[in-house]
Amino acid sequence: MNPVNFPAHVALVGLPGSGKSTVGRQLARRLGWPFLDSDQVIEQRIGLSIREFFEREGEEPFRDLEQAVIGQLTAGEPCVLSTGGGAVLRPANREHLQQRSHAIYLHSLPEEVFRRLRHDRNRPLLQVADPLERLRELYAVRDPLYRESARLVVETGRPSVPALVHQIASQLETLGLVTATRQ
Ligand code: S3P
Repeated sequence: MNPVNFPAHVALVGLPGSGKSTVGRQLARRLGWPFLDSDQVIEQRIGLSIREFFEREGEEPFRDLEQAVIGQLTAGEPCVLSTGGGAVLRPANREHLQQRSHAIYLHSLPEEVFRRLRHDRNRPLLQVADPLERLRELYAVRDPLYRESARLVVETGRPSVPALVHQIASQLETLGLVTATRQ
């Protein structure tokens, strides 16, 4: 594979709470690339939190916005892009992630993200009586879609964030997708 012709976006996909934003921000710092978070870009554009937008408009208008933003960001300047956990639901997003980026699936089990998110009040899909059951349902539907979209699967279970960042950066270097990074 010719690194010069390779799409220079690194995108992170995975369940809510799998660490996409935290890992993405630190990976970007290490690579010296800009970091973008599609949820943050959406919130800046609509001037509302995603939770408020969901309450007012519902999920499908959010997915439309998300698709437009991911289409634009993956066509723009090289960056590390953290995506919302449901981005892979739309076929157009999966296609953009596959074709325009090197997407990495941060794989977490529903039980792991439940431990991290059980006090979260910002994620509209998890404001239900049984969030663990909801996460299991999301995992069943989305795990195959994350795998379809991504070229690398990284287990988030045990390693610390710096260890995950190091692992991902080393794999990107081995593949010739980035030049040697610090540390
Ligand atoms: C969603 C995940 C959220 C956000 C929105 C919908 C989902 O992003 O895009 O609340 O469908 O799983 P995170 O994965 O960053 O929490």
